[in-house]
Amino acid sequence: MKLSEKQSQIIFRVNERLDRLFENDSPELLRESMKYSVKAGGKRLRPVLNILAAELFTDDTEENLDIACAIEMIHTYSLIHDDLPALDNDSLRRGKLTNHMVYGEAQAILAGDGLLSFAFEVMLDNAMRHKGNLEREMRAIKTIANAAGVEGMVAGQVMDVSLENTSYGYDTLSYIHTHKTADMIVGALLSGALLHTDDEEALRALRTYGEHLGHTFQIIDDILDITAGEELGKSRGKDVMEGKITYPSLFGIVKSFEMAKERTKKAIEALSVFGDKACYLKEIAEIMLNRSL
Ligand code: FPP
Ligand code: MG
Repeated sequence: MKLSEKQSQIIFRVNERLDRLFENDSPELLRESMKYSVKAGGKRLRPVLNILAAELFTDDTEENLDIACAIEMIHTYSLIHDDLPALDNDSLRRGKLTNHMVYGEAQAILAGDGLLSFAFEVMLDNAMRHKGNLEREMRAIKTIANAAGVEGMVAGQVMDVSLENTSYGYDTLSYIHTHKTADMIVGALLSGALLHTDDEEALRALRTYGEHLGHTFQIIDDILDITAGEELGKSRGKDVMEGKITYPSLFGIVKSFEMAKERTKKAIEALSVFGDKACYLKEIAEIMLNRSL
């Protein structure tokens, strides 16, 4: 099966499950605003990575599906909050109005809050339905909490925001991207695998792959902020305009792309322990490097 077909299959299952999960008794405005951003056309990268990591160990990923959806909810909450006037103040994402532009700031904050707490409710419900696998379920959920939380994505975001308009070097830039972007990618991969394996070597390999993938994603994001056209569907040129420290601002575009290439090579190398089974993950790393959107 081609990667594109595989991705479509996973995305179909995830979208169907998300629809079902959103059939709940929350106030209509809250549900609408959460769904608006969850269904705004994201690439579903993290759920896809979650299921593909699970498939390295099992043919049956039914137990992963709620967790994959929860990860997408956490990712979506982070984007809604990141776009708020108090943070990045963006009015466009994925070519659509951002949540606060449609529902107002207060409701956008609450939609994010709702998505974050609902994600953990969904994962805990799933764990309770799989009591025979409770320890692995708990390890997976803890991994996601850690990736999203105060030593993970929120930590990276705090450094990003608090160091705005200051000057810093590669170590700090790297810290920000490790936590803000790579941690959730690593968390998606590890939690996918953790439901089915305790093999530390395999888990380490997935972590290394995810870290390199996350950094590559961010380097390319920084480059596209300079080089992309309107098709990007979000603000462009903002990093330069605001004097933000980025890979290109520290190293220039050419060297930054070289660094992304090196990371991609290492990401793919890390997967060698899985042999051919990891072909989709390998291809995703290459696509990440060469993406224009
Ligand atoms: C784009 O993902 C987003 C990122 C790479 C993450 C950047 C990190 C933040 C915005 C953290 C914000 C954190 C808080 C706590 C507010 P993508 O290209 O996969 O997005 P898509 O879903 O649109 O495809
Ligand atoms: Mg930001």
